[in-house]
Amino acid sequence: MRLWLISILVPALLLAAPVSAQERSAHANYILRCAGCHGMTGAGAPDAGIPDFIGLVGAFAGLDEGRTYLMHVPGVVGSGLSDAEIAAVSNYVIETWAGESLPADWQPFTEAEVTERRAIDIPDVVAKRREVVAVLDAMGIETAAYPWP
Ligand code: HEC
Repeated sequence: MRLWLISILVPALLLAAPVSAQERSAHANYILRCAGCHGMTGAGAPDAGIPDFIGLVGAFAGLDEGRTYLMHVPGVVGSGLSDAEIAAVSNYVIETWAGESLPADWQPFTEAEVTERRAIDIPDVVAKRREVVAVLDAMGIETAAYPWP
């Protein structure tokens, strides 16, 4: 191959090389692992049981048990992401869509917190959500509509 061609092709190939999962941004991970259900606007599909994030998702982030719940939603558990990536994509969701529901003393998830909360055994995530929603309800904090009993 002529040298000039190599000098054009090699940098082009390097630019096109896929970045490893570790290097993907939270935004990219959201698109790849979450948006299929939650949508690009974060509005979900409430009738199908995918809760709306907009102006609501922050409610869970202000409560100890709510933060544990977030680390056990099926899309996060089954995402195949590392704990550091889960922290980043969860913070991305909350910072992008919580709006007014973002607690005043909001603390982003760290990798260590994700590891710790994922180790807690939550056999029934729907029951866990119900329990957390009851606490938030009693505090006058709204959460997304959810069709499961
Ligand atoms: C296969 C569909 C699906 C995918 C993919 C998915 N989720 Fe979810 N998500 C759900 C459902 C369903 C719920 C409601 C909780 C439940 O039923 O267990 C939920 C709940 C949530 C909640 C809590 C909202 C609430 O009001 O309870 C957050 C936050 C969340 N998901 C984040 C994510 C993130 C971050 C990803 C990507 C890493 C993701 N989800 C991928 C289906 C999905």
